[in-house]
Amino acid sequence: MVKLTYIAADGGRTEIQAEAGDNVMHAAIAHDVDGIVGECGGSMMCATCHCYVDDEWAARTGERHDGEDDMLECAASELRPTSRLSCQIKLTDDLDGLVIHLPEAQI
Ligand code: FES
Repeated sequence: MVKLTYIAADGGRTEIQAEAGDNVMHAAIAHDVDGIVGECGGSMMCATCHCYVDDEWAARTGERHDGEDDMLECAASELRPTSRLSCQIKLTDDLDGLVIHLPEAQI
């Protein structure tokens, strides 16, 4: 299992345990974490799964995938260097403890 912490824009924290192989968007939806919508189900067609990877974890989650930058341009909240589509961050055992910050709005 992979421990994940989501920190809402208002500072509220939600900790969950997710399966390796899942992704950050789907794990949030499955655990009723507010702040991620995931309208397209993870096919990189919506940007409603926008998140900010915590600075300490950014190197470990890797680079944005092809097409991710274009879709992030449609995000409702400001973009930052650590902005990612959470559906494109696959959970691995190396990401145990990952911290994800949620934007103020997704739509
Ligand atoms: S869920 Fe639509 S782009 Fe991630």
